[in-house]
Amino acid sequence: MNSFEIRKKFFDFFEQNNHTYVKSSSLIPAQDPTLLFTNAGMNQFKDLFLSKEKRSYTRAVSIQKCIRAGGKHNDLENVGFTKRHLTFFEMMGNFSFSDYFKNEAINYAWDFLTKWLNLPKEKLYASVYHKDDESYEIWNKSIGLPDNRIYRLGEADNFWQMGDTGPCGPCSEIYIDRGNNFGCQESKCAPGCNCDRFLEIWNLVFMQYDRQVDGELKPLKSTGVDTGMGLERLCSIIQNKDSVYETDLFMPIINKIEELTRIEYNNSLDNIK
Ligand code: SER
Repeated sequence: MNSFEIRKKFFDFFEQNNHTYVKSSSLIPAQDPTLLFTNAGMNQFKDLFLSKEKRSYTRAVSIQKCIRAGGKHNDLENVGFTKRHLTFFEMMGNFSFSDYFKNEAINYAWDFLTKWLNLPKEKLYASVYHKDDESYEIWNKSIGLPDNRIYRLGEADNFWQMGDTGPCGPCSEIYIDRGNNFGCQESKCAPGCNCDRFLEIWNLVFMQYDRQVDGELKPLKSTGVDTGMGLERLCSIIQNKDSVYETDLFMPIINKIEELTRIEYNNSLDNIK
């Protein structure tokens, strides 16, 4: 499946589930002094989560162009050192504004990955915020994921906020096990490890708070859902490629550079390790 087909499936799935299609917003966030570049699909919906704005829909789907090369979410230092990090990428997301919450968000994600994309269930893992028993139970009882494939992780991994202030909440991440060859070979390698083995593909954020300047977590008037899945990572899985660079999103560009420079592309990370 090529990247066009994957984008289309994503929109089709969520539109069939009553989500309104919303175009990617500009990479320069309008009227938001807290951000230099758009760093997540939820940026353009910030005021909806904060109940400062109302729209005709309470469910949305988008594929947002993002830059993570500075600020709170900065992937710049990882680029070139892993097979999965990029500074510019497309984030596929579904959103609920005072509509559904954890149960539907987790079930939608699972159905899309396993029924629409046919990813192998036995290779999928989930993490939840360590205090979030509700999400754990949904993964375990409703989805049927066994205990040994659900990880409870702390704030660094499973609590998401767009910046120092603003909407935030605990999150649940979905990983796919790419196998030992991609791993660090450490016995404790598991979801949350920095190596390429357990590839995080989708982050489901359960918006519950508005982080204040002094750090206080003020409960939102109503809860919401903000999800983000890296299109390039998903393409690398579906197209069975080692790294995000070898997908149909990058190869035509790399091939052209090869042709112009007469230098062959080398996908090995060995020379920089
Ligand atoms: N905002 C969350 C993230 O960027 C989910 O979309 O990971």
